Amino acid sequence: MNILLTGGAGYIGSHTHVALLEAGFDPLILDNFANSHPRVLERLQEITGRPARCVRGDVLDTARVERLLREEKIAGVIHFAGDKAVGESVQQPLKYYHNNIGGAVSLMQAMEAAGCESLVFSSSATVYGDPASVPIREDFPRSATNPYGHTKLVIEDMLAAQCHARPSWKVAVLRYFNPVGAHPSGRIGEDPAGIPNNLMPYISQVAAGTRSELQVFGNDYPTPDGTGVRDYIHVCDLAEGHVAALRHLLERGRGLTVNLGTGQGHSVLEVVKAFERASGRPVPYRFAPRRAGDVAQCYADPALARELLGWQAVRGLDAMCADAWRWQSANPQGYR
Ligand code: WQD
Repeated sequence: MNILLTGGAGYIGSHTHVALLEAGFDPLILDNFANSHPRVLERLQEITGRPARCVRGDVLDTARVERLLREEKIAGVIHFAGDKAVGESVQQPLKYYHNNIGGAVSLMQAMEAAGCESLVFSSSATVYGDPASVPIREDFPRSATNPYGHTKLVIEDMLAAQCHARPSWKVAVLRYFNPVGAHPSGRIGEDPAGIPNNLMPYISQVAAGTRSELQVFGNDYPTPDGTGVRDYIHVCDLAEGHVAALRHLLERGRGLTVNLGTGQGHSVLEVVKAFERASGRPVPYRFAPRRAGDVAQCYADPALARELLGWQAVRGLDAMCADAWRWQSANPQGYR
């Protein structure tokens, strides 16, 4: 069964490509390589033993996407394509509204024209804003604290409106918590451009000696050790969650919205210690002021995904750090 992965050459998309092939699907990547590198395609072939089918293009090219959906007889789409840096979205909101919301509208128009009605959407726990309590359930209120999060919230609402207007559409909204780690082969992984915004790639580069020390953004939060607590989920668990959600749409014919997290929160200092254990390298750090927009704690109640999809994360923090380190140490320049 042919599945289109928009943005499929990216971090989550490439790992999902592997999981889909292992599950017997035939993934086709559509990527403009704005946030990814073509070299990932040869790495995917190394891992899977099969060529990674890819079309270079943009979801904003509606006619092109419609033709692709028809010609390739696409049964379902997993929509990863979009920009995802919170800080950048504050500086360049129009880029985010154009690429993320415009891209989703274009994709949905192409799907409607081509008669493709199954869609898995890459959403984010950021739609919960600053949660009143943790763990977070899917029925918690949503709020946007930055343009990036706002685009995810708006796209969720657009998908709900489309499903109301077209009851034959089946949509799975997947709210990611904090994806980290890499495929255990060490051949694909997270490849941020420039200075990493996110904790795990930054720690990886400190352990590798590329950066001198980690700044811990705040140690006065109301958490056990004062540093921010997040739900880190191994990217391979996340990829397997996408396969489970796609199967649910195609075989059960029902849409859903679920958290993809472990249900376990870890503080920044816990991640630092775990990474030092996994890499055998020191990760020097110093405390710095809180980062604007950060919340104290954010971790999932993963019960609904387990109940509806029979899926749950199985890899712990030590495996996340070991796999992230294997990728970092084998690919100090990422895919470049
Ligand atoms: C994690 C913790 C920081 C860097 C973001 C997006 C979210 C999703 C995942 C896309 C926090 C602390 C970080 C550093 C630090 N992205 N930290 N020093 O902010 O939870 O979520 O990425 O979907 O939408 O909001 O992830 O990795 O940036 O931060 O102390 O150099 O690490 O304060 O407590 P975050 P993060």
